[in-house]
Amino acid sequence: MSDRYQGFTRSPLGKLLVKNLGLPAPTPLERYTEGAPLVDGTVLLGGRGRLAESLSELLDTLGIASTETVEEGARFKGLVFDATGLTSTTDLHALREFFTPVLRSLESCPRVVVIGTPPEAVSGAERVAQRALEGFTRSLGKEIGRGGTVQLVYVADGAEGAVSSTLAFLLSPKSAYVSGQVVRIGAHGTTDAPTVTDWAKPLAGKVALVTGASRGIGEQIARVLHRDGATVLGVDVPQAASELQSLMKELDGDWLTLDITGKDAPQRIAHHLKEKHGGVDVVVHNAGITRDRKLANMDDARWDSVIAVNLTAPELISRELLDQGVVNAGGSIVGVASIAGIAGNVGQTNYATSKAGVIGLVDSLADELTDGITVNAVAPGFIITQMTAAVPFATREVGQRLNAMSQGGLPVDVAETIAWYANPASTAVNGNVVRVCGQMMLGA
Ligand SMILES: NC(=O)c1ccc[n+]([C@@H]2O[C@H](COP(=O)([O-])OP(=O)(O)OC[C@H]3O[C@@H](n4cnc5c(N)ncnc54)[C@H](O)[C@@H]3O)[C@@H](O)[C@H]2O)c1
Repeated sequence: MSDRYQGFTRSPLGKLLVKNLGLPAPTPLERYTEGAPLVDGTVLLGGRGRLAESLSELLDTLGIASTETVEEGARFKGLVFDATGLTSTTDLHALREFFTPVLRSLESCPRVVVIGTPPEAVSGAERVAQRALEGFTRSLGKEIGRGGTVQLVYVADGAEGAVSSTLAFLLSPKSAYVSGQVVRIGAHGTTDAPTVTDWAKPLAGKVALVTGASRGIGEQIARVLHRDGATVLGVDVPQAASELQSLMKELDGDWLTLDITGKDAPQRIAHHLKEKHGGVDVVVHNAGITRDRKLANMDDARWDSVIAVNLTAPELISRELLDQGVVNAGGSIVGVASIAGIAGNVGQTNYATSKAGVIGLVDSLADELTDGITVNAVAPGFIITQMTAAVPFATREVGQRLNAMSQGGLPVDVAETIAWYANPASTAVNGNVVRVCGQMMLGA
């Protein structure tokens, strides 16, 4: 399931054709390896606002080197600009002033983060200026190239101390395939964040439920949450029992084979978590299916099964776990949506309905949860798995290239994003839907 085109572009003939025909040349993306520093290089800090004074110290606690001055010949792995001080449209000039001179001094796979104030929390000229930041970051994401990523992080007033886990994620190779996104911190519920003492194992002593854990994206989610210290309970259908068991044994985890659409599935999962683990800290609704047909040819079975697995089951399981008090304080519920649920897709009315519904589930729970429990979703774009291997060649090629990185993502890219949501320091990260799509050209 490798990307053969990307391999070809690095061969001598491929390089020649890419150069002469103007073909896309995807940069090999850097990905995180366990034990490596979060940022392999220096981050340049700029801007003047609510966070500017604390940023350098905050990055220092994450082991990230930063500077506010540009020495001759210096190169940067990341740029962080505090734009919370921009209160009028003329102030937006500060973006050009900071970024233009340093964009040619970036290392490969650079990370750019602009920090703003949620526009809905301010008014008048400041609201206009803060909203404008989104056009800037989304465009720079499409321009930056060389495996770079650009994000906008809106930090609510009072949540300045709750940004560590988000910067750790967005500045590191963990966010390799996440770009052009808008993240909100402190927008729903708490603006606090507990202190994490061990950034290598933030989930030590925590229990994580992962549905559809036997293969694909679910397998990687289980692996990454285990790497971060969690005990993983993997759930999958009885047909996947042997793969599920061997993976969970390898990860010192636990398993439950059941169909999540079964009538008693929510109760069985809740009972198991309560009895065997005393509760759950991270709930990842990853299990999902596609049964594509244009609506004119859609039968009941295709429609019903997709809605049942992808949407109704996550909804009922979340409700049961919350109603029974099985989700521990500070816990995290994560839905797996899809770009199809945002942009729509031919032949996928059932799937896109279910995935837009997952976003609806995030919206409906985000304001209602208490005890520091959060709910967020990832919306993967084209991720190379068995699911996408079944897509016809031509459609697959187009699907893989139509993003700012000209390549498909890997299951680990989705898993790392989920691990950021699950981090106990992410309690102020609530109600977000972040796309893991290499900044796909399609949709919003
Ligand atoms: N691969 C992509 O490009 C992509 C893009 C967007 C969203 N997604 C979403 O990511 C998630 C994982 O996708 P994947 O590509 O790894 O798929 P996959 O088919 O490789 O894995 C899905 C897993 O879910 C399990 N599952 C299915 N129905 C179940 C049920 N009723 N009960 C319990 N387990 C069940 C399967 O047995 C399988 O192990 C899905 O929700 C999918 O919709 C994937």
